[in-house]
Amino acid sequence: MNIPTPTSNGLSGVTSGLSAGAAPGLPDEVTLGRMASAFFQALPGAALPSFDNFASSLGAGSDVGKSAAPELSLAQSGPSILPQPASAPVAPDVVDPLGSGGAEFGVPEAYAASLPSVTPPQPPSAFTDSLPVSPPGSPYYFIGEASPYAQSGVPAKPENRVVAQSFGLPGQGELLALLADIGHERKSADISGQPQNSGNFYFLDAAREPEIAPSARPPFDVNAVRRDFPILQERVNGKPLVWFDNAATTQKPQSVIDRLAYFYAHENSNIHRAAHELAARATDAYEAARQKVQRFLGAGSANEIIFVRGATEAINLVAKTWGVQNIGEGDEIVVSLLEHHANIVPWQQLAAQVGAKIRVIPVDDSGQLKLDELQKLLNAKTKLVSVTQVSNALGTVTPIKQVIDMAHAAGAKVLVDGAQSVSHLRVNVQALDADFFVFSGHKIFGPTGIGVVYGKAALLEQMPPWQGGGNMIADVTFEKTLFQPAPNKFEAGTGNIADAVGLGAALDYVERIGIENIARYEHDLLVYATRGLSSIPGVRLIGTAADKASVASFVLAGYSTEEVGRALNEEGIAVRSGHHCAQPILRRFGVEATVRPSLAFYNTCEEIDRMLAVVRRLARGKGKVAA
Ligand code: ALA
Repeated sequence: MNIPTPTSNGLSGVTSGLSAGAAPGLPDEVTLGRMASAFFQALPGAALPSFDNFASSLGAGSDVGKSAAPELSLAQSGPSILPQPASAPVAPDVVDPLGSGGAEFGVPEAYAASLPSVTPPQPPSAFTDSLPVSPPGSPYYFIGEASPYAQSGVPAKPENRVVAQSFGLPGQGELLALLADIGHERKSADISGQPQNSGNFYFLDAAREPEIAPSARPPFDVNAVRRDFPILQERVNGKPLVWFDNAATTQKPQSVIDRLAYFYAHENSNIHRAAHELAARATDAYEAARQKVQRFLGAGSANEIIFVRGATEAINLVAKTWGVQNIGEGDEIVVSLLEHHANIVPWQQLAAQVGAKIRVIPVDDSGQLKLDELQKLLNAKTKLVSVTQVSNALGTVTPIKQVIDMAHAAGAKVLVDGAQSVSHLRVNVQALDADFFVFSGHKIFGPTGIGVVYGKAALLEQMPPWQGGGNMIADVTFEKTLFQPAPNKFEAGTGNIADAVGLGAALDYVERIGIENIARYEHDLLVYATRGLSSIPGVRLIGTAADKASVASFVLAGYSTEEVGRALNEEGIAVRSGHHCAQPILRRFGVEATVRPSLAFYNTCEEIDRMLAVVRRLARGKGKVAA
């Protein structure tokens, strides 16, 4: 493992969006050509201008347009938000826990190319009619503008359109401004090799900032993003709140809050059963949310999406339906040592009920799964492998595609616990070939009490319902009940309608920012936090896998995790201290609890500095907190 080499912009080890020879802080011409081509291809229904000419005029030739995704990197924007790295030496035993760059967290090109295309379904006309319309002239309400839902009255439309930002690309105005300035830029670029101050775009230098059209907005701007989350303005103990408990739950953008309010103000009704206007609005909003989840996960059909209360209920649903039906005496269920209790206990209960066995994939000293050990565990009795994609306690990103392929080769089905992954990295259930994928809405900036089971259609069709009642039936007599097909047969009773709609708004928000932008930014934050923590004497990081997301669990010599948590809380900083509902993996590292800062894309390096200052003070022994 290599700790990323510090660079003068305060970041390191981050894949650059610049090709060799490009002026520092500027995208090269090939990158610009690709961006332009990808941008116009991304506009629904837009005529495709020929960028071949543009490209060839820049000498880019036929390379242009080969890649739809520009390789943007916060490495170019460091100065705007990212302070210089801590100068303290790095502990030798905590080396490069994050690997060599943000590219690992995005969608590798080969993987991206393998993603199945999912045709966005057309919403029902009643839904289309009730869609909100963006404020005139700007679809970017996530960047500091009021949500259309906040303006009561007739909502604007369309809420769920595909925009360039969905792909992490600049908007049309920005791109045109960018292209118009190329000539000037080539003359004024600083070719000294030194990073320059950040401009609006994180791949541009400050010198060009005034030349960008006033309406230009960056594809990702943490300060603007923060304005979308009202709770980030809270003060705790007189200090600005720092929310580093994102693995427990995430904060909600105004657009989600507004969407919930709008639902209750204008659409509230039970669904599916009443022939009146509000029932139609509520049903359409709920089913539109299901379609958004389908698109977000890359599922083949909205019928493969079941709404539940959260990931815990999702796993229980699979255990109590597919599990009871398909796992019997002597069969084996494989989980990993990384699992949250929610991905252990339901399988233990099932195993006790049917006489099956639980087998556990061990981890190495970094906290990564040992695939060679998994291979040894798999056999003809293995019916299910149920593994997390990201560890909530350590942050390990597991090699889930390999796990799935290995399990399938052994004839087992796979459930992926996506509770900690969906908000940090791109998921495509078809590309993964996951049989089941579960997540919770509240971990991805949506409401609590709503979550999702994705299941392959063929599996769902065979599975029995788990709860009986209204909404899930086709016909009931005292002799016999006929069930609806999936997903309804798994949604007995009145579901969490409003929060499903709120989840849809949260996914819209994430897609507009772009999950790849989020992944790259968070990667840099995590590098920064990891480097800072590992430089503090007495800090031991728990979980140093090469591929990690969001989480920087640690213990501090001489202090209980509760003491550290309390000291941080006094400074307004929220972290979780404890076992994180993942006792087996913490015990693997000889601890019962950790302090767990967990980052999201609205966090900043300045906030990390505040946390590091408290931990340093404790480490110096001057701030021993009262028991
Ligand atoms: N699963 C949540 C966590 O990791 C509660 O904190």
